[in-house]
Amino acid sequence: MTEPHRVPPGPPRRATLRLLRELKNDRLALMSQARAEYGDAVRVVIGPKKLYIFNHPDHAKHVLADNAANYHKGIGYIESKRALGDGLLTSEGELWRKQRRTIQPVFQHKRIAAQADVIVEEAAKLVARLRTAQDGAPVDVLEEVTGLTLGVLGRTLLDTDLGAFESIGHSFEHVQDQAMFDMETMGLVPAWLPHAKQRRFRTARADLSRIVERLVAGRLADPRPAADDVLTRLIASTAEETDPRVGERRMRDELITLLLAGHETTASTIGWTLYLVDRHPEVADALHAEAVEVLGDREPSYADLPRFRYTAMVLNEVMRLFPPVWILTRKAVGADEVGGYHVPAGSDVLICPFTLHRHPDFWTDPDRFDPNRFDPDRPTAGRPRYAFIPFGAGPRFCVGNHLGLMEATFVIAMLAKELRLSLVPGHTVTPEPMLSLRLGGGLPVNVTAR
Ligand code: HEM
Repeated sequence: MTEPHRVPPGPPRRATLRLLRELKNDRLALMSQARAEYGDAVRVVIGPKKLYIFNHPDHAKHVLADNAANYHKGIGYIESKRALGDGLLTSEGELWRKQRRTIQPVFQHKRIAAQADVIVEEAAKLVARLRTAQDGAPVDVLEEVTGLTLGVLGRTLLDTDLGAFESIGHSFEHVQDQAMFDMETMGLVPAWLPHAKQRRFRTARADLSRIVERLVAGRLADPRPAADDVLTRLIASTAEETDPRVGERRMRDELITLLLAGHETTASTIGWTLYLVDRHPEVADALHAEAVEVLGDREPSYADLPRFRYTAMVLNEVMRLFPPVWILTRKAVGADEVGGYHVPAGSDVLICPFTLHRHPDFWTDPDRFDPNRFDPDRPTAGRPRYAFIPFGAGPRFCVGNHLGLMEATFVIAMLAKELRLSLVPGHTVTPEPMLSLRLGGGLPVNVTAR
């Protein structure tokens, strides 16, 4: 006799309305409560959708790595294709493999080393700008950092000053808004509806297409064979498309994806770090001490990276508590078994780094901010590798992790060395689980010199 399929526990069907409300208003609470109430495997039925939420490191390993071939990108990714098209984040199969092969070499360690100077230059400009705000009106440092991360990507991936395209920041906002709207409404609001958001989105996408066209035309006119950056590689890889419109669309999708995936996540990491460091003066002092010791009165270089040992511990702890990619969604292609539970073909599977990183079996006092957890000299026996996955895992592992981490390390070290950034009294920051885990309310700070 065959064993009946085991189904994970979860809220009853009659809870659908409450769940929908929470899905819209408080997704982090929904995930945390589901874990606290039902454990490591939870099945949530919302209307026609069956969500399987898995919260054990072994489950993450199985879905993201060991049996990754059985999973495609899921909720949110599918819907945001309207905005992001078939870029590296959302594409599948042969197209994804081809694009990953085209782009990955640009992010290898030795290439990234060459980008250190660009990051340091941009970070030095940020420190200088903030210094002029000393003892003056508060500055929204999150806005500053978001501009910095976009600018760095422009220079490192495209060898271009994106600041020259004035509209780019706004256009990105609207494309992100649309991707988020599609995600929240699970793509149920059709694109043809005369919705103000959709109109803004279409204008913004057309604007980004024009920017991409200008970037490509500029590069074709000035080929720079030595510049083996993303733009050069994309131009070469799309040249073989027989229909030039397809090539153009692939290029646009890819560039928008890379700029979006790379700048929001890194800005969120830096933003949460500044926020938590302000709340823990002892950590701020230790970061300052390390920056002074490593740098003296010079600026950082790539060779300094391993010496920022404490800064790396802080960044890990920040990404543990506030992982910029707070949820990883997949769709099961065929039926599977995860942690002893049956997952039917076509199910939506969710792995939530936000709750996984606070799992009480693997992290003592999980909500406490304590960078010493990541002290390389401290034993981590019993903590599985997949208990901490800020950059994902398996074949879809983040392509830009070295670049993102180097950027966060240099920016934090250079700020910590020179300045104290204190959140404006009375201002509250709330985690906003959008495409990345945003700091809702921004980060207005008063700037003082160290
Ligand atoms: C601290 C900063 C960053 C964090 C925390 C982060 C996190 C992640 C995570 C968790 C994934 C996996 C998503 C999934 O499996 O569904 C991912 C994928 C990706 N990331 Fe990052 N990322 C960061 C920086 C960057 C940067 C700087 C870039 C590029 C410029 C980038 C580009 C991408 C791309 C293209 C993918 C899709 C890769 C694929 O599916 O082949 N990320 N990132």
